[in-house]
Amino acid sequence: MVIPLRTGLPGAAAPWAARLSEPGSPVCTPDWLALREPADHAARSGELAAHLDAHLASHLDATAGTGALVVRDLGCGTGSMGRWLAPRLRRPQRWFLHDRDADLPQRAAATPQPDAITSTRAVVGDLTDLADLEGTDVVVCSALLDLLRAPDVEHLADLCVEAGAAALLTLSVSGDVVLDPADALDAEVGAAFDAHQRREGRLGPDAAGAAADAFARRGWTIQRRESPWRLDVGDAALIEEWLRGRLDAACEQDPFLVPHAPRYLERRLEGLALGLLRAEVGHTDLLARPVGQGAR
Ligand SMILES: C[S@@+](CC[C@H](N)C(=O)[O-])C[C@H]1O[C@@H](n2cnc3c(N)ncnc32)[C@H](O)[C@@H]1O
Repeated sequence: MVIPLRTGLPGAAAPWAARLSEPGSPVCTPDWLALREPADHAARSGELAAHLDAHLASHLDATAGTGALVVRDLGCGTGSMGRWLAPRLRRPQRWFLHDRDADLPQRAAATPQPDAITSTRAVVGDLTDLADLEGTDVVVCSALLDLLRAPDVEHLADLCVEAGAAALLTLSVSGDVVLDPADALDAEVGAAFDAHQRREGRLGPDAAGAAADAFARRGWTIQRRESPWRLDVGDAALIEEWLRGRLDAACEQDPFLVPHAPRYLERRLEGLALGLLRAEVGHTDLLARPVGQGAR
């Protein structure tokens, strides 16, 4: 269901299912990705990016690597990760932009890139079909892991370890959400939303833990940092769109919420309009790399 309260964002509200990008769905909309990109850039761990850069410098020196790094962005969307990460790595880079939605990586590859990116190539396909990543130095993703199932994450870890490619896996939802001020319905909405994220075996808020375990079992070093969105009055459009999606999913999961949802959303949007609503939305970033590469 889509709750019929609108406040004038460009275009129609994307239904929740579109954001989850099911095969054959209208996909993760570029409007939604553009709306969240500044908050994503502010949230990702710059510290882990610096550790990745140091790892690459020492690892590639040790293996006499030269030339551009090969970076694969899985579930690249419109290429937000490249815009954020590329300037943080000191070597030039060739980016392979993977997504199962044919439109998104092609759009991403055609967009002007940071100077550090010397070439981009769109790769259309489901990451579960990837057979090997030989020649890859770094695998990255952003806002992807929570959409996957446990075997997909095991497969991803296998691919990275076989290729010796470090992995920077960012912005997996953690399930920790704080809305200020609180509302009596927050907890029920949160529980239903988390259950919706875990439907049909998806990892949802368990994704970062599952990925950390998968790499650790293969003997790799993991570093983990929390990377929450911290949203306030300046982020009203994002808070509203995020709240609508959260509530749609919660109602789909728990129909008992449906009669209460319009009034809840109204209370929240009133608070937002008055500049009184803040939101902290938890995410986790992980860096996985071979043992002995200076992890702290
Ligand atoms: C929430 S969006 C994030 C996009 C981008 N990484 C960003 O941070 O803006 C998730 C993306 O992952 C893609 N995706 C989801 N599951 C996938 C899969 N199994 N294989 C390939 N791409 C997938 C979707 O099409 C979508 O573009």
